[in-house]
Amino acid sequence: MRAVVIESFGSPDGMAVVDRPDPVPAAGEVLIRSEAIGVGGVDAVIRRGTLGGSGFPTGMILGSEVAGPVIAVGDGVDAALLGQRRWAFTGTAGGGYAEQAVARVGDTVAVPAALSSVDAVSLGSSVPVARFGLAHAHLVAGESVLVRGAAGSIGIAAVELAARAGAAVVAVTTSSAERGERLRSLGATHVLGRTGDGESSPAAGFDVILDVVGGRDLSRFIGRLAANGRMVIVGVVGGYPPADFGTALLGAFRKSVSVGTLSLDTVAPAELARARGEAFEDAVAGRLHAVLHDVLPLGDAADAHRSMDVGQVFGRIVLVP
Ligand SMILES: NC(=O)c1ccc[n+]([C@@H]2O[C@H](COP(=O)([O-])OP(=O)(O)OC[C@H]3O[C@@H](n4cnc5c(N)ncnc54)[C@H](OP(=O)(O)O)[C@@H]3O)[C@@H](O)[C@H]2O)c1
Repeated sequence: MRAVVIESFGSPDGMAVVDRPDPVPAAGEVLIRSEAIGVGGVDAVIRRGTLGGSGFPTGMILGSEVAGPVIAVGDGVDAALLGQRRWAFTGTAGGGYAEQAVARVGDTVAVPAALSSVDAVSLGSSVPVARFGLAHAHLVAGESVLVRGAAGSIGIAAVELAARAGAAVVAVTTSSAERGERLRSLGATHVLGRTGDGESSPAAGFDVILDVVGGRDLSRFIGRLAANGRMVIVGVVGGYPPADFGTALLGAFRKSVSVGTLSLDTVAPAELARARGEAFEDAVAGRLHAVLHDVLPLGDAADAHRSMDVGQVFGRIVLVP
């Protein structure tokens, strides 16, 4: 099968299309013929190799989110799954950017007939991250929310979910006025620049900040929390926070703010599978939207990463083998 591997970490030029043996599902696994492969911000973070020695080996197949029919099952897996179209998380070690991928059956979810595989890979991880992130922040109706890094698929889902939950203010950060307008059409009420400045900043602090970015500007956003405000960090597309992050946090001591993280790794598998199924049903019903930046052939994976590196992407890039 054709697969996209990392020959050297850093620039997208280190990605290469190679031939690899077709994978064989082990006990408890399924083999999927990938119709669609999600290109996530996490893939770019891994490929850049910037996060303190990621521990990923050269030669790894990037990507972790695919959808397509099950074409083989390992021992102990119900053969009735054969032919069923499923969304799958292939694991933190990658394996996604390829014509075929294996996944543990518990990390797969049926895709409704009315939802394309392309749309499924744009929603299957991003919506649960946004949903459990907002739940971790204990968002309630009437509160104000800031989604930092809202132009990615997690941020877009968070904007739609926060608006649906009855947030009084759904502010976003983005580096692009055009992306800001698109976020408004999805439910954003205020569009701020990446540093939190903007022509329409709500005066009071935010009850909830859902942060996909991290990075050197994180400290200044502690100062944007309201009294009893909660910041939940779900991503690190901007890298680690600066050394003064703890100082900024304690500087807000008298506002009783909280800072936490949310990883899907701590969500119970059954709850996660249910959330994915609900995300797909919501998309079919038009309550959530799969926002696609581009759909590209598998061999254009490096170009997809170049687009992410220059910050042009709104929503999700999907590869189709
Ligand atoms: N918590 C979990 O369980 C979980 C699961 C999966 C993924 N993740 C994490 O989620 C992140 C990827 O999410 P995503 O795919 O939605 O994001 P993304 O598309 O990679 O980025 C979101 C937006 O952030 C902005 N941005 C990029 N670099 C920035 C920087 N240096 N400073 C400020 N803003 C920046 C860009 O928008 P503008 O240019 O418009 O500002 C970009 O569109 C990764 O860190 C990944 O590890 C977490």
